Amino acid sequence: MVRPALAEYHAAARFIRAATHQRPTIGIITGSGLGALADRVAEPESIFTTDIPGWPVSTVEGHAGRLVFGRLGGTAALVMQGRIHFYEGYSMQALTMPIRVMQLLGIKTLVVTNAAGGLNPAFDVGDLMLIKDHINLPGLSGHNPLIGPNEPTLGPRFPNVAVAYTPALRALAHEVAGAQGLALREGIYVMVGGPSFETRAEVRFLRLIGADAVGMSTAAEVVVASHAGMQVLGLSLISNRLVPDSEALEATSHEEVLRAGQVAAPRLLTLVEGLFHRLGQAAPPAADSTD
Ligand code: HPA
Repeated sequence: MVRPALAEYHAAARFIRAATHQRPTIGIITGSGLGALADRVAEPESIFTTDIPGWPVSTVEGHAGRLVFGRLGGTAALVMQGRIHFYEGYSMQALTMPIRVMQLLGIKTLVVTNAAGGLNPAFDVGDLMLIKDHINLPGLSGHNPLIGPNEPTLGPRFPNVAVAYTPALRALAHEVAGAQGLALREGIYVMVGGPSFETRAEVRFLRLIGADAVGMSTAAEVVVASHAGMQVLGLSLISNRLVPDSEALEATSHEEVLRAGQVAAPRLLTLVEGLFHRLGQAAPPAADSTD
């Protein structure tokens, strides 16, 4: 049976606290092709995740593993560059370890970003979508990251994740996007295991169950963040369109996903900086947490 690796989480948190004096309460995970966010951090202090004891190592192109502490939009932030995916062979527990470590580091608000395939026919490549809810397909089929003995100091046995994406943060995102003149879609994100892209029949299925965008990350992390009591904001960059009966479906590739990330990244970066600026005005003072 998989046990919650509490001692491992604490060891990683201790290592990070010893490596930097910065104590942000807001964190962000950058998705495929969106790692450039880390380059926008002012006064950065970087920690390579390969140096952190127990940290899962990202094996995917476009996912350099770094934690960058500094100021984003003027606000103290922790940027996690290089997330881990289920398809790399990690367990759900292992790939959500970074969220646990963030919890121990005192992160109270988590922004998750990803590149996603657009299922909603109204969506275009390059659109930004605020996640209002998710369908955790791996979770529903037995790969929930909370499976195993519960560690009560981290969260409850049966967490209610009905409202995992904090409404006040969604409202704030709309406000910031509006002020920037940026179009912001809103929709439901479905997580799949990957790494194969979807068949035509699967695209039809995902549309039928009400999803607007599909990707290979995020939902598992958000379940753990929600269990940890964090406030969560999710942003998807639509990197490709999934139209069941079009030839374009055959062209979906990781390169296409990364390319779209590069093209649309500046808009996402501007939005995120605006968000962090506003979050900083509302954030509680950063306190040094102990473990
Ligand atoms: N399917 C699954 N995951 C994705 C896609 C997709 O089309 N695009 C980006 N991530």
